[in-house]
Amino acid sequence: MRTNQPQTIYLSEYKVPAYLVDQVDLRFELFEDGARVHSTLTVRRNPDSGESAAPLFLHGDSLQLESVALNGSPLRTGEFEDRGDALVVPSVPEKFELQVVTWIEPQNNTRLEGLYKSSGMFCTQCEAEGFRCITFYPDRPDVMARFRTRIEADKSAYPVLLSNGNPVDNGELENGRHFVTWEDPFPKPAYLFALVAGDLVEKKDTFTTCSGRNIDLRMYVEPRNAKKCDFAMDALKRSMRWDEDVYGREYDLDIFMIVAVDDFNMGAMENKGLNIFNSSCVLASQETATDAAFQRIEAIVAHEYFHNWSGNRVTCRDWFQLSLKEGFTVFRDSQFSADMGSPTVKRIEDATLLRTAQFAEDAGPMAHPVRPASYMEISNFYTLTIYEKGAEVVRMIHNLLGDEMFRKGSDLYFQRHDGQAVTTDDFVRAMEDASGRDLGQFRLWYEQAGTPVVSVSDEYDESSGIYRLTVRQSIPDTPGQTGKKPQHIPFALGLLGADGQPLPLKLSGESGEAPLERVLELSQAEHCFEFEGLSERPVPSLLRDFSAPVRVHYPWTREQLLFLMSHDPDGFNRWDAGQRLAVDVIQSLVGAPESAGVEPRLVDAYRSLLQDSELDQALMAKMLQLPSEAYLIELAEQADVAAIHQAREKVLGYLAEGLRDELMACYRRNVGQGDYQLTPEAIARRSLRNTALGWLLHIGDQEALALAKEQFRGADNMTDRLGALRALVNSDFAEDRTQALEAFYKRFSDDPQVVELWFSVQASSDRAGQLPQIRQLLDHPAFDWKNPNKVRSVVGAFAAQNLAAFHNPDGSGYEFLAEQVCRLDDSNPQIAARLVAPLTRWRKFAPGYSKQMKSALERIRDKAELSRDVYEVVHKSLA
Ligand code: PHE
Ligand code: ZN
Repeated sequence: MRTNQPQTIYLSEYKVPAYLVDQVDLRFELFEDGARVHSTLTVRRNPDSGESAAPLFLHGDSLQLESVALNGSPLRTGEFEDRGDALVVPSVPEKFELQVVTWIEPQNNTRLEGLYKSSGMFCTQCEAEGFRCITFYPDRPDVMARFRTRIEADKSAYPVLLSNGNPVDNGELENGRHFVTWEDPFPKPAYLFALVAGDLVEKKDTFTTCSGRNIDLRMYVEPRNAKKCDFAMDALKRSMRWDEDVYGREYDLDIFMIVAVDDFNMGAMENKGLNIFNSSCVLASQETATDAAFQRIEAIVAHEYFHNWSGNRVTCRDWFQLSLKEGFTVFRDSQFSADMGSPTVKRIEDATLLRTAQFAEDAGPMAHPVRPASYMEISNFYTLTIYEKGAEVVRMIHNLLGDEMFRKGSDLYFQRHDGQAVTTDDFVRAMEDASGRDLGQFRLWYEQAGTPVVSVSDEYDESSGIYRLTVRQSIPDTPGQTGKKPQHIPFALGLLGADGQPLPLKLSGESGEAPLERVLELSQAEHCFEFEGLSERPVPSLLRDFSAPVRVHYPWTREQLLFLMSHDPDGFNRWDAGQRLAVDVIQSLVGAPESAGVEPRLVDAYRSLLQDSELDQALMAKMLQLPSEAYLIELAEQADVAAIHQAREKVLGYLAEGLRDELMACYRRNVGQGDYQLTPEAIARRSLRNTALGWLLHIGDQEALALAKEQFRGADNMTDRLGALRALVNSDFAEDRTQALEAFYKRFSDDPQVVELWFSVQASSDRAGQLPQIRQLLDHPAFDWKNPNKVRSVVGAFAAQNLAAFHNPDGSGYEFLAEQVCRLDDSNPQIAARLVAPLTRWRKFAPGYSKQMKSALERIRDKAELSRDVYEVVHKSLA
C-alpha cells in the first residue's frame, strides 16, 4: 500500500495488453476470519501485441498467495515470482489456464477497496483498481472477460449471495453453508465485478422493456431500511424508460439489482447488473430525506443505470479515458433530471457546482485536462473536471450538433464500439462521422486544462445602427501546460431593448429574418461581430443557458444587471444577473469600513422578486439564494475569508431587515400546502419558506423564532424539519439551538443517514461548529472513523462549508484538518486524499491564511509512510 516515491503513469506510454483473458471462474469461500479466492483464468496471447515472449503480469495488492498452477500443474518456486504488488510468470504458452488461490481478510479491510465488510455484510468495490485486492489479475479496463462466480458462505449469516449477471445454480453445503453461482454473459473489465453476501431483505419489482422483455428489479437492504426503497425503485424504472425513449438503449440482462451499504468511499458504483450504493445515495423516506436528497438519489440511480451502456457495454481503454464514461453519463443523468423536474433550475445547479468547485480545481495545483496525460494514483482523478466539466464538453457537442445528429452520433458510438474498451477520441469521432461536422479544434477541450476566460467589450454606433461585440478568449496556464491554443466555444447570446424586448441578431451582410438568439462559434483568440439594424444600444445577455464552461467578463453596470434580472427571457441568465449583482455588491463591501452602506437597489430587486407572482417559483427560490462564500472566495484574487464572510453577512442582514415583512408574507404564503409532494412547485415552496425562515432568524426575529420552533416540531417531512433546525442552529438563539439539536438527535439516533445530517448541520455552521465543538462531535458515540459518511459529515463539512471557522486566522482549522488527514491516511487513503482538497488551494488566499495553509500541508507531507493517494495531492500542491 505504501511507496515512498510513487511512480507517475503516462498516457503516452499506453501499450495494448500482452495477454487477454476470455473467461474468469471464481470461487469465494467466505469466513469470519478471511476469505479464500480460487480463480481460474483462461488466457491467450494478444494477437495485437508485438511482444511474443512477454512474461505474464498480474496485478495484486494485499494478497496472500496460496498456490499457482498452469494448465493444472502447480508452479514451483522459480517458475513464478510473487512481488507482492504483482504475480509474474516469466514463461507461458500461447494459450493456457492459470489457477490461483489467494487468501484475503475482508474483515480488516478499512480502505474499502476490493472485498470488505460493512455492517456485517460482505461487499466489493473494484473501480478503479480494487479487483487486484481480491485476486491476481491483469487489472486494467482493456482486458474484458466473461465472469462466472460461485460464492460460498454460512447460510444463516449470509442468506443472500449476489454477483454480476444471472443466477445459474445454488445449493446446500456442509456445516450450514450454502452457495450460489452467477454467470455474466457480457465480457467486462474487472472493475465492474461485484459480490455481496449478507442478511438482507429483498424488494421486488419488474420492468417491461421496449421490446417486451420482463426484467426482474431487486433492491437488497438491511431490514431496518426496508421502508426506504420505494423512491429509488421508481427512479430506476423512470431511468430505464427514459434511456429507451431518449437514447434507444434497452436493458440487456434478465435481472437488475441495487444494494445499499453504509460504508462506501463514493456515491455509488455501476457494477454490471449489480449496482452498489452508498446508503445515503439510495435510501429515502419523506420523514428522513430532504428534497435535495431525493433529487440526488434520483440522479444517482439514473447515473448508475445509464452506465450500463455508457461505461459497461462500451467501456474505457485506460483510466486516462475516465471521462469517456463519466462525462457522458453525467451529461445523460443531467438531461434526465432536467426532464423529470425544472430544466432551468437543474441548469442553475449544474453551473453553480461547476463555477464554484470545478473552476477552483481548474485554477489550483491539481488542475488537469478532461483527458489527463498523467497521474500517480487514479483514485485522485475522480474529479469535478472528469465528471462535471466532462459532461459540459459532451453538452457542447450536443448543442453544436443538435438533438437529432447527436442521437445519430450516440447510436453510432454504441453500435460501433459495443463490447469494446475505447477512448474519448473514439467518442468524438463517432459524433463527427454521424454528423459530418469537424470537431478537430473542439478536441482541445479534452487536452487543455484550465477554464477559458471570455472577455467581451462592445460599441454602439448610433448613426449606422451597428452594435459591435469584440470577444476575446484566453486560457490560463496550468501545471505543466502553458501557451494554450484557442478553443472552439459555443457562445449563446441575445440582445435586449430598453423595453425588455429581445432584438433581432442580424450579422452584417446577412439577409433573411434575423433570429432573436444565436450561438456564436468562437474559434480564434479574438472575434469581432457586427450586428446591424439596431435603433438603440442593446443590453447583451451573454453565455445564455451557460452554453460553455467558461468565465465571462463584461463590464455590466448595476443598472444593466437589475434590468436583466427582471427581463431576460433566458431563465438561467436572469438568475445569473442576480448573482452577478449580489457578487458585485458583496465584493464592494469586502474590507470596507463598518459604515459603508449596502446598495439599496439590491433590496428593491429582491423585493420585486418576492412579490413577483408571475415568476416561476422554482426559479424564484434559486434567485433568492445569495452567492455562497465558496463562490465568492473562488472569484477573489487573494481571498480574505473573514472579510468576505463579514461582507456577505452584512448584505444578508441588510436584506433581511429591509424585507422583513415580505419575507414573513412569503413564509406564510408557502406553508401548509397539503400532502407532501416532490414536484418542482412543491419543492420550490419548501425552499422559499425555509429561505425566508433562515433569513428572519438570522436577524433574530422573535415571531420567526416561534414559527421555526413550530415547524421544527410539526414538520411531516425532513426538508422542513431540517430547514427549521438549520435556521435555529445558524441563529443567535443559543438555547433554542441546543434544545432543537438534542430533540433531533433523540428522535433520529437510530438512523445513520439522519445522524449524518445532524452532524453536518452543526459542522457547517459558524455558530455551532467552531473547532472545540467539532472536536466534541468527533468524540460523539455516533461518530465512526471507519465510516466515510461520518467523516465527511463532520470533517469534510467543516473544511468545505464552514469557511469562516475553518479559515480561523490563528490557523487552528488547518492544523485540525492536517491532523485528521494523517490519522485517516493509515486506514483509508482515498478519503484522506479527498479531505486534503481545501488546503491545496493555499495560493488563492491572502498571505496570513496561505502561509498557515502551506505549513499544514507540509505537516502532512512530513508524516512517515504517506499513502500514494495523499502523497500525490500534497506534493503537487506544494510544487
Ligand atoms: N464509477 C462510479 C460512478 O461514477 C464512481 C466510483 C468510482 C465509485 C470509484 C467507486 C469508486 O458512478
Ligand atoms: Zn459514473
